Amino acid sequence: MKMNNSIRSFNSKGERIPVTVLGATGMVGQVFMWMLETHPSFKVVSITAGDSRKGKSYREATRWQLPVPFPETYGRMPFSTLNDVLAAPTPIVFSALPAEIALKIEPMLAESGAAVFSNASAMRGKENVPILIPEANPGDLGRIKKQQWGSGGFIVTNANCATTGLAVALSPLRKFGIKDVFVSTCQSVSGAGYPGISHMDIAGNLIPFIENEEEKIKGELSAILHLNVPIFPSCVRVPVRFGHLETVWAKLGENVSTTDIRESWEKFKPPAHLPSLPETPVSYLSDPAQPQPALSFAGTPPGMAVFTGGLKKQGNRIGFILLVNNIVRGAAGGSIANAELFLEGWDRHLEAQSAVPQFDS
Ligand SMILES: NC(=O)c1ccc[n+]([C@@H]2O[C@H](COP(=O)([O-])OP(=O)(O)OC[C@H]3O[C@@H](n4cnc5c(N)ncnc54)[C@H](OP(=O)(O)O)[C@@H]3O)[C@@H](O)[C@H]2O)c1
Repeated sequence: MKMNNSIRSFNSKGERIPVTVLGATGMVGQVFMWMLETHPSFKVVSITAGDSRKGKSYREATRWQLPVPFPETYGRMPFSTLNDVLAAPTPIVFSALPAEIALKIEPMLAESGAAVFSNASAMRGKENVPILIPEANPGDLGRIKKQQWGSGGFIVTNANCATTGLAVALSPLRKFGIKDVFVSTCQSVSGAGYPGISHMDIAGNLIPFIENEEEKIKGELSAILHLNVPIFPSCVRVPVRFGHLETVWAKLGENVSTTDIRESWEKFKPPAHLPSLPETPVSYLSDPAQPQPALSFAGTPPGMAVFTGGLKKQGNRIGFILLVNNIVRGAAGGSIANAELFLEGWDRHLEAQSAVPQFDS
């Protein structure tokens, strides 16, 4: 684990660790560049995008889509090629590549010794590659020790965006015994990347199909929460820019009150102080008309909280609505939090189940 030690040595000297962002012009890549501009531990030193960006600066090549300021610090940064990055990888690489490119590039980077934190689905669930959410399954980070790449490289993935919101909201409810989960999603267009879906297809319309999304929710939620129960997802694309809204019904093993559920969310904390995670990862809103996607960039840090609302129950079933910012909490912010968890030394946990700590939830 040579490279891993060098990552921690940067950190112990108080230096920001040099990182690369792959796919920096895309929806998720833009969030990385915004969040990493002022990050206390990571500093972007190289970026990539498609071949046509060669020779351009980040500002010239990027059509800024976020409702937050463009990261001027990185505006003049030129694009590297994927081959440049493979030849001399930074200690940490954040990947926002399309899955088919990630499948090829991420293993090569890990083999070259890089710590790869990826949003792409390509490597999710491959042998010993954790699908990690710090609040839900921090102990699964220990699985990187069993990866067989050269020079201490490894790959950590984060979950699909809709799964992330669901896993964070359900995580503190595991103690009540989750028996099944029904979830219907309303997913924003930014979830399809940029330029993504044609305006003509989605304006004033809904599209009740998102390729592989329901399968991802089923497989990833089970893996992250270590659940083996029926999960029934239905996914719809809606004409909203940012934020996925999800209607959830879950059967619990106990007849708990809505007060118990709300208290579990209020007391739920991250496993450690990580700069990119809110102190309260799940925030319940009592206003019956909330949460709405208009709140996607609310909270501290912006876009990282999962908002819940509309809590109700019927016997052992509870119902609620949740909002997750798909490109921040459900993508780049999740990867950054995973890298922060690694810096905290959470890879010392070897096995998933036994290492999941008992939170005060
Ligand atoms: N959007 C979300 O809500 C979300 C959430 C979770 C996970 N993800 C995953 O995160 C990844 C990025 O998603 P996104 O929404 O940001 O996609 P996107 O907006 O389409 O951006 C893709 C990025 O990859 C670059 N790229 C495309 N083809 C390439 C190639 N052949 N070689 C090198 N770079 C290439 C693009 O560069 P150019 O601009 O030059 O084409 C762009 O920077 C995907 O795997 C996606 O499934 C997305």
